[in-house]
Amino acid sequence: MEIRLEINQFQHVVNINPGEKLLTVLRCLGYYSVKHGCESGECGACAVLLDGRPLNSCVFLAAQAEGHLIQTIESIGQRPEKGWKVTSGLHPLQEAFVELGAIQCGYCTPAQVLVAKELLDRNPNPSEAEVRDALSGVLCRCTGYLKPVQAVLRAAALMRGESIEPLAGDQSAFPIGEDQSGDLIRGDVTQPHAPSPQLPVTSTRVFPKVLVLPQTERLHTVGKPEPKVDAIKLVQGKPAFAADFEPRNLLYARVLHSPYAHACITQINASKARQLTGVAAVLTWQDIPRVVYSTAGQSDPIPGPLDTFSLDNKVRFVGDRVAFVAAESEAIAEQALKLIEVTYAPLPALLDPRQAMHPDAPRIHDEPEYVNFADSDPSRNLAAEIRIDIGDVERGFAEADYIFEGEYQVPKVQQAHIEPHVALTYWDEDDRLVIRTSTQVPFHVRRQLAPVLGLPVKRIRVIKPRIGGGFGGKQEVLIEDVAAHLTIATGRPVLYEYSREEEFIAARSRHPMLIRMKTGVKKDGTITANEMRVLSDTGAYGCHALTVTGNTGHKAMALYVGDGPYRQKPNIRFYADIVYTNHPPAGAYRGYGVPQGYWAVERHIEKIARKLNLDPLEFRLKNAIRPGELHPFSTAWSEGREPRPEIIATNGLEQCVQQGKAAIGWDQKYANPEWRRATRKPYLRRGIGVAMVMQGTAIPYLDMGGASVKMNDDGSFNLLVGATDLGTGSDTVLAQMAAEVLGVPLEDIVVYSSDTDFTPFDKGAYASSTTYISGAAVVKAAQQVLERIKLRAAQMINAGLGLGQKIDQEVEVGDIQVAERRAFVPDGRYLTLEMVARHALHQQDQEQIMAVASHVSSVAPPPFAAQFAEVTVDIETGQVMVDNLVMAVDSGVIVNPLTASGQIEGGMTQALGYAVCEEMVYDDKGRARERNLRDYHIFQANEMPQLETIFIETYEPSHPFGVKAVAEIPMDGVAPAVGNAVLDACGAQIDDNPILPEKVWRALKLSPESA
Ligand code: FES
Ligand code: FES
Repeated sequence: MEIRLEINQFQHVVNINPGEKLLTVLRCLGYYSVKHGCESGECGACAVLLDGRPLNSCVFLAAQAEGHLIQTIESIGQRPEKGWKVTSGLHPLQEAFVELGAIQCGYCTPAQVLVAKELLDRNPNPSEAEVRDALSGVLCRCTGYLKPVQAVLRAAALMRGESIEPLAGDQSAFPIGEDQSGDLIRGDVTQPHAPSPQLPVTSTRVFPKVLVLPQTERLHTVGKPEPKVDAIKLVQGKPAFAADFEPRNLLYARVLHSPYAHACITQINASKARQLTGVAAVLTWQDIPRVVYSTAGQSDPIPGPLDTFSLDNKVRFVGDRVAFVAAESEAIAEQALKLIEVTYAPLPALLDPRQAMHPDAPRIHDEPEYVNFADSDPSRNLAAEIRIDIGDVERGFAEADYIFEGEYQVPKVQQAHIEPHVALTYWDEDDRLVIRTSTQVPFHVRRQLAPVLGLPVKRIRVIKPRIGGGFGGKQEVLIEDVAAHLTIATGRPVLYEYSREEEFIAARSRHPMLIRMKTGVKKDGTITANEMRVLSDTGAYGCHALTVTGNTGHKAMALYVGDGPYRQKPNIRFYADIVYTNHPPAGAYRGYGVPQGYWAVERHIEKIARKLNLDPLEFRLKNAIRPGELHPFSTAWSEGREPRPEIIATNGLEQCVQQGKAAIGWDQKYANPEWRRATRKPYLRRGIGVAMVMQGTAIPYLDMGGASVKMNDDGSFNLLVGATDLGTGSDTVLAQMAAEVLGVPLEDIVVYSSDTDFTPFDKGAYASSTTYISGAAVVKAAQQVLERIKLRAAQMINAGLGLGQKIDQEVEVGDIQVAERRAFVPDGRYLTLEMVARHALHQQDQEQIMAVASHVSSVAPPPFAAQFAEVTVDIETGQVMVDNLVMAVDSGVIVNPLTASGQIEGGMTQALGYAVCEEMVYDDKGRARERNLRDYHIFQANEMPQLETIFIETYEPSHPFGVKAVAEIPMDGVAPAVGNAVLDACGAQIDDNPILPEKVWRALKLSPESA
């Protein structure tokens, strides 16, 4: 049918199918700011304004939109100064989102801005609650909503004509001062979160408090809250993501997924599907080469078994692949799936990991091509096994006055990035296969897929555009092969994008684990031995099996080494069996096994402290690892590689505790029965809890990042990095480091990441390594370029060029200082960098000033944190309301407080779901209960507790700017801190998260007196 649509005041006449949704039509017309995040009206990424009111276009028929005014973000906020369409410039909302760091991946941003615009159009002076309500229809998995809410409030104030303090980019807005104890600080100190009628509401709340180091005071760009380098295009909804590009002749891929948890495919007949008009190809296991591989995006050799095929004649979980279809439209592809005739011979399904290694258990991997790694043993359904004994654990137990044992459980949960997995493949004019994909690991995709596709690496080019969130879910070579096989089969471009249901049934997730703890403690609170035994369910395939679960012990069991002589010789045991089951495979998820470990460790430690009547903070600090001590696991395990000793150089945990407890009011609240019951409602109890955590920063001797820096005619620089900014802001912090070294403002660094054809290798975005590893590579490359600039500047000056008159005495290279876009000689005269660049490129002894460098670290310096939580528990229903989360973090030097605090806020929010509501449950046939974002609840803007981030800077000596990791550590402590706060509030001991009302209610039924 033909319809007329008025979009952003342009008339369009389009031919559509009657059932076509408005989202599909808008994207076909090139309105790529309207995003696909689900198909059922839950995420809000597809929001547009229809006659000025927000509407989810994925559930609205295009035909219904005829006669209405449709508005998308493309209609507002051009940038005339950039020479684009002349309009009034960025909308104040867009300006505020950019300035306040409200954009991380930016996938939800156009929708957030649109719904906020609708709010401000009808209510120019909204309260924070009204803003949160308005944003609640747009899910954001990255930000924790704090900065978007503040951005809307700030824009509202600006639009009302109120005067508002300048923010990001204005150094005076983020000055260094001293607090009462004399510590150097940046950011708001006194009232970071309490809205005050005297203060403009947006004046300080987005800036974290940062306890800064004196050596960072002199820096110009590092340490400053610079707006993200990609923020403007994202807030404008520019076509920056993988699916925002549709070549001609595009085919759409769909996959037939298994309805059985475990079955052989005895027959498969695709002839009817192939005959359907509009179908270009149907591929089954009979049609493609049988190449075994691992989907885990990791360096070579993959530290895990090879146990996966693109398509197989056996299915191992509900959702496993059976066939691929490429067709002229998604609807035709869906129809074709129904015409594929498959005969399955069901096999007994293994759904309980505790049964996996039983001799009678069904065997999941019996294929002859299976390639073992280390101790994997498919005959016992064992994907990996870890046995680590540090010190003499049995002796440690014998020396203890008390032994404490406990069993803990953690569920399978989903990354739930709002942009689904998406890949677009096509042959280029040189017959090379281009894979444009939303991936965290472009170089691993190229290397790992080459044998699967039967192509040499050199015939594959992987382009990573902006990524709409990944959280580890895109550290998987998950769907690129589907599109690639279909492009090879048809010769045509193919787009494959997961539906939200596919994200739940066929993507990766966090490993669920059963964890047993045993701890020996002396009467004075000294830990003498600590043991963790883990049963980890990797699901049907062993991707990341060894390394995720290894990190559970490596990071969570390294924190408490004991005190006194035990500090020198801690006794720690970590045993893990990582088993196959017929559940969907687990994989990488932000935190990479560590949140599981800390749920057990920190719940267990809390119980010990309470049993022995020890102060929970002092007990923890007494036993925690300190600077100058050996990381106990560093000589025992290194992700399947040779371990090497590593000394902890910096640890700001004590200051984290001090700052965190002051911010949350620990001393006034902990063990205070009056505070606990101080509400007007007798059925409510308040509680406070803590967890201490450490993570890692990259994988030593393995993770490598490369960077190249090239000088342009105008003295600006191209920075090319293979590192992958998945919304974390890594492009920005890498550019800040380059700008700092090269003495230019951030705007003079043009960053590009990443494309396997022309950016240097980088292992990708995982293990919290980008700022540390890739950042060091950027600094090295920038320093080499700086030396070339100084050399040429000295030559020019000595030749009498540029300064007007010859200098009396020859200058040495070492005399030249580069700052403020200039190369200075000691008397204060200077050449501009543009003069140096033009001289180099055009005038004399011409050369391209350029350098490439790479970096590998010999250490993985851990960040540390103290996580505090405050809750209110309804003891009649078991409902837990988390009121406040405070996280004090030692992540080394903070390169950008806005992006770093955004990481902490977003991470705490994701971890909050892990604490109280997120889990993936399967029935006795292995079928998922959660298949959409309605059943799988992630936090909305109007459900959030107060969030506060405090950074305690330490100077990590192994990095040129002293940085450590920030991205993963906020995942680790929230769940146990909330669990400990619930215990404090009402005495309910919840050992398996999430802490659902039913569990609390049942626990209180068993011991009501504790409440
Ligand atoms: S894409 Fe429409 S609500 Fe998710
Ligand atoms: S910034 Fe909101 S989903 Fe990423």
